[in-house]
Amino acid sequence: MMDRPTRILIVDDDPKILGLLSDMVSSLQHEVETAEDGFEAMAKVGLDIDLILLDVNMPGMDGFEVARSIRKQYLANELPIIMVTGMATREDRIGAVNAGANDFVAKPFDLTEIRVRIKSLLGMKAAHDALRRHKDQLEDVVRRRTQALRTALDDVVEAQRRLRAANLETIQRLVAAAEYNDLGSAAHIQRMSQFSALIAKRLQLSPQRIELIHQASPMHDIGKIGIPHEILLKPGKLNRREWQHIKRHPTIGAKILQKSTSQLLRLGEIIALTHHEKWDGSGYPKGLRGDEIPVEGRISAIADVFDALTSKRPYKEAFSNDMAFQVLWDGRGKHFDPELVDLFVGSVDGIVEIQNVFLSQETAQETISKGFPLAQSTY
Ligand SMILES: [Fe+2]
Ligand SMILES: [Fe+2]
Repeated sequence: MMDRPTRILIVDDDPKILGLLSDMVSSLQHEVETAEDGFEAMAKVGLDIDLILLDVNMPGMDGFEVARSIRKQYLANELPIIMVTGMATREDRIGAVNAGANDFVAKPFDLTEIRVRIKSLLGMKAAHDALRRHKDQLEDVVRRRTQALRTALDDVVEAQRRLRAANLETIQRLVAAAEYNDLGSAAHIQRMSQFSALIAKRLQLSPQRIELIHQASPMHDIGKIGIPHEILLKPGKLNRREWQHIKRHPTIGAKILQKSTSQLLRLGEIIALTHHEKWDGSGYPKGLRGDEIPVEGRISAIADVFDALTSKRPYKEAFSNDMAFQVLWDGRGKHFDPELVDLFVGSVDGIVEIQNVFLSQETAQETISKGFPLAQSTY
């Protein structure tokens, strides 16, 4: 148990008794420290003492006082104290217990009695020490495992963050690739997706859903990558056959994104497929009406049209927000979900805030479509 001999401090002001007790204790194979008064005893308590034999009657600091001071630093099972006195009166016993002594021996001493009491108290202390060591080890194990768990968790979070960033970047690059073929600017796509998120927020969808809509709506026109250049880039009005081509971009986009295991791409598929559906059923490709159109499609329809209207294009000036709101009002219940129009038009501050962020960046953001001849937008 203990890897060193037990060390016992004997405190007595009488050198004869000190000598007698020291001999007894040494004969029991313990190391002995001695102190001739209370102050010396207090000074030697720190020397890895395992047990104290403490005389009660001493000049200066008596044994009760010494015991009380020791108990302020050590519990009874950390450092046992055996009180030693000439008289075993009831008051002495009570005083010893109150002062924090574990046990009591009366003079004259009997070696066997002292041995039994020391052995019993050292056994108790050893059990306590073992328990404390065990507890310390346990705490240490728990601390190390908690740290390991925390590190592992951090790694998982970081891996998820990277994966998410990689996903987003892939989508942005896919969208950028589609834009090479189109007239829409990067700013249009970003504003449109922020307007979509704004409507989703006003609709009080969950934060996760709002974020998904924000990230998926840039994919709405990705199907334009499958429309011939000469049609997409044709200046002036499109004929019937050309319009038939254009109207295929939702289906093409949905095909590109279809059956993904990614929640984000699945939502992108829905938005690509349904952003040209109209509330009254006159939209394309399927002519869905009302609630048949997924809410994300109804949201992106408003966001997309509004931003196209308020953007300056080579063939047209930008509509003011009020003019664009008028278009949304006119389309309320025909082209657009009436409830969503109300929510959007009621969010002027949020809309202007989004527009202002892009105002200063506008020219920089136009780079992708630069150099292409520009034709009539199909939103
Ligand atoms: Fe479109
Ligand atoms: Fe668009």
